[in-house]
Amino acid sequence: MINRYTVIGQPIAHSLSPVVHQLFGEHTQRKIKYTRTESTTETFDTTVRDWIASGGRGCNVTSPFKEQAVQVCDRLSREAHRAGSVNTIHLHRDGNLVGHTTDGPGLVADIVKNWRYPIADKRVLLLGAGGAARGVMQAILKQSPSMLHIANRTAEKAVALAEIFDDLGAVSGSGYDALGELDAFDIVINATTSGMSGTMLVLPEHLMNAGSLAYDMTYAQRDTPFMLWAQQHGASTANGLGMLVEQAAESFLIWEDVRPKTRMVYPRLHEMLG
Ligand code: ATR
Repeated sequence: MINRYTVIGQPIAHSLSPVVHQLFGEHTQRKIKYTRTESTTETFDTTVRDWIASGGRGCNVTSPFKEQAVQVCDRLSREAHRAGSVNTIHLHRDGNLVGHTTDGPGLVADIVKNWRYPIADKRVLLLGAGGAARGVMQAILKQSPSMLHIANRTAEKAVALAEIFDDLGAVSGSGYDALGELDAFDIVINATTSGMSGTMLVLPEHLMNAGSLAYDMTYAQRDTPFMLWAQQHGASTANGLGMLVEQAAESFLIWEDVRPKTRMVYPRLHEMLG
C-alpha cells in the first residue's frame, strides 16, 4: 500500500516539498506518493476534506493557508493551538484530522544542528510579526535564548506578539526605529516577506557583527537583499532551504513514525535550484 500526501498552497507549482518527501520515502524504504495541490481561500476546507476522502493520509499546508488550516482540524497539538498555525495535517487512526506545526522545530534544527549555532543564552532578533514569525516563536524560546526581540514595521504587532509568548522567556517587541538603542545580536532571523519584493529593510549598522548568523526564512536561488546586507556587515548567512528540509522531516515523522536523515536530500535540491 502507498501512503499518499500532498502540499496545499497558492501558488504551489515551485514547491520543493514533493522532491524532499519522495527522497525521504526512498531512504526510509516507505512507500509514499507526495504531490502538489493548488487551492484558494474559498475552497481550502473542501480541498483538505476531498484529499482525505480520496484516501490521503495527510497533507502539508503552506502560504497563505496555515492559519485557515487551524479551523479544518478536529484537534490540534499544543504548539499548533498556541501558534494559531498548522503546516501538517495527519489523519489519525481514530479518524480525526490532527493539526501540527513543524516550522519552529524545523528552523531550530537547521540553526542548531546544521549551522551549529546554539540558541541557548544567545541574543536573538526576529524580524517580522506575521504568521511566519508567530509559528517559530515557541521553538526558539524553548532553546532558552538570553533574549528574543521581535521587530516589525507595524510596531504594535511586534509588541502584541511578544506579550502572547512572554511566559516562555525574555521576549520584547518594537518597531525598527527602536533597534538603534539595542546591542548587536548573535542571531537575526528574517521572517518578513519584504525580500520577496526585493526591498531591503532599513536596519541599523551595528545590528550584526562577524560572529552573528543572519538567517532568512525564505529560500531562493540567489542570496536575498537581507543576506547580502548581513554579509557586508561580516555576518554568516543562511537561507531557509534547511528549514524547509527539517520541517519536512518533522512532518514525515508524524505521518510515518520515522525521522529521515536530512543530509542526503541537499545534493538533489542544490542541483534543482541550479
Ligand atoms: P507570513 O505568513 O509569511 O508571515 P504575513 O502574516 O502577511 O505573512 O506577514 C508578513 C510580515 O512581513 C509582516 O511582519 C509584515 O510587516 P507588517 O506587519 O508591518 O505588515 C512584513 N513585511 C512585509 N513587507 C514588508 C516590507 N516591505 N518592509 C518591512 N516589513 C514587511
